[in-house]
Amino acid sequence: MTGGRVKILVTGCMGQLGWELRSTLPALGDVVALDRSTLDFTRTHELMHVLRDLRPDVVVNAAAYTAVDKAETQPELARRVNAVAPRVLAEELQRTGGLLVHYSSDYVFDGAQQTPYAEDDEPAPLSAYGASKLEGERAIQAVGGAHLIFRTSWVYGVRRKNFLLTMLNLFEERSELKVVDDQVGAPTWSRWLAESTAQVLGQCVPCTGSAAPPLGHRSGIYHLTAGGQTSWFGFASAILDLRRSEPEAKRPELMPIPSSAYPLPAKRPANSVLSNAKLRASFGVVQPSWHSLLRRCMAELTPR
Ligand SMILES: NC(=O)c1ccc[n+]([C@@H]2O[C@H](COP(=O)([O-])OP(=O)(O)OC[C@H]3O[C@@H](n4cnc5c(N)ncnc54)[C@H](OP(=O)(O)O)[C@@H]3O)[C@@H](O)[C@H]2O)c1
Repeated sequence: MTGGRVKILVTGCMGQLGWELRSTLPALGDVVALDRSTLDFTRTHELMHVLRDLRPDVVVNAAAYTAVDKAETQPELARRVNAVAPRVLAEELQRTGGLLVHYSSDYVFDGAQQTPYAEDDEPAPLSAYGASKLEGERAIQAVGGAHLIFRTSWVYGVRRKNFLLTMLNLFEERSELKVVDDQVGAPTWSRWLAESTAQVLGQCVPCTGSAAPPLGHRSGIYHLTAGGQTSWFGFASAILDLRRSEPEAKRPELMPIPSSAYPLPAKRPANSVLSNAKLRASFGVVQPSWHSLLRRCMAELTPR
């Protein structure tokens, strides 16, 4: 706490989410944002030193190993970044009475359930990435300090590598495009994810005060995604419809395919839809539809 303001450390600040958190969180306190070059999660000892130096009241952990397919051949690296380092963060914050905000994934589930997943549904990851994210959740919970773990899904934005930007590039190059239609989820804009994090954090962290806030029974896992659901094919179709293109731009034909026709190293859940009822009841976060968020996000892109 500096001058009565809460000190918030954002990790992974060059990622999709971390980048957005840098603009949304200063309303709540003094933000220190570190990227991989200044805080590398594979160097656990440095992580401890940085935390002891900075003594943040809150850590919002947006750093993660997110290369889902690569994780199949680098499971140990994925574990170190997604499970071992978050455990260290949780331990340090428990020692100082701070709060850890962490993100997890729809990929902790196997997707066999026919209805949206609730927080207490049984996880059963299909991939090394999903397993590393589940291990991270469990490590934070086992430490037992104040924590908020937000499971989200299908994150995109106007920066870095994501499905939205990949599709926009492919639309320029291809006359037809096959897209998987048998996995459903809720595409979630990184900006909204950051804004919703701030909305929740604003209810937990006073701007002034004498100590990091006790979270009590509100510590735990929450699902935080856009509303509604679609398939990757549905997502691609919406991107194509919303694309602000030059009049002469080509319009490729999209074709739905099953995931069996597009094999990837990591298996993905067929159903990635997460119920946000707990978050709504606990913190009043209202989910805009995935489509309305996509429209808002794409309005920020320049025409191609
Ligand atoms: N993307 C999705 O579709 C998705 C879906 C569900 C859940 N999530 C979760 O949401 C959170 C945010 O994801 P995102 O989409 O913002 O991911 P992202 O864009 O890949 O950003 C991850 C950040 O973590 C950093 N990072 C990677 N390895 C690191 C290391 N060893 N030490 C320190 N930093 C490291 C990356 O650094 P560089 O900039 O150097 O690469 C990057 O800035 C993550 O917890 C992720 O698991 C994401």
